[in-house]
Amino acid sequence: MSHLSNSVTTHLRAPNTAPVDAPEAQVPADHELVLKVIPLPGDANANGDIFGGWVMAQVDLAGSVLPARYAQGRMATVAVNQFIFRAPVRVGDILSFYAKMERIGRTSMTVNVGVYAERFNNQGRYIKVTEAQLTYVAIDDEGKPRPVPRTDD
Ligand SMILES: CC(C)(COP(=O)(O)OP(=O)(O)OC[C@H]1O[C@@H](n2cnc3c(N)ncnc32)[C@H](O)[C@@H]1OP(=O)(O)O)[C@@H](O)C(=O)NCCC(=O)NCCS
Repeated sequence: MSHLSNSVTTHLRAPNTAPVDAPEAQVPADHELVLKVIPLPGDANANGDIFGGWVMAQVDLAGSVLPARYAQGRMATVAVNQFIFRAPVRVGDILSFYAKMERIGRTSMTVNVGVYAERFNNQGRYIKVTEAQLTYVAIDDEGKPRPVPRTDD
């Protein structure tokens, strides 16, 4: 066991701090800031960048914030319609998650999420690292779809 963990450790690289040739982006004025989080070394992959599955989990959480206002109760992610990793996320980046409701159906809610990174040594300069679209479904106590309450109800 110790032989295995030593062998894995020797293949891991230090966190990647090399400059990234990614264009500066403006955070979207028509989206709402729903989450900020800083990835830690334990969230990195073997390249020293942040593991994509960690980013996906944060996007799933961030994407649920606006639909939760409409669902007013239990809901579940039914689909990740689109997920694009545009630039690597680095250990120590400050990640900002911006969301906008795209569509409210009978039981489902679709939301767009954009993720912007401020490199730890370049605060105030945003790089768009990820964009995604997810759909959530309001569910009842049995886990079955239920209508999203209408605001005029
Ligand atoms: C979410 C769940 C309750 C939906 O049940 P279902 O019987 O498949 O639902 P329906 O076919 O009636 O569809 C419900 C809504 O979801 C939408 N939907 C279903 N599949 C979809 C898909 N692949 N993409 C986008 N929307 C979808 C439908 O269009 C419908 O929307 P509307 O009522 O606004 O028109 C069920 O699929 C489920 O429990 N899935 C697992 C959820 C989960 O564990 N998520 C975490 C994953 S780790």
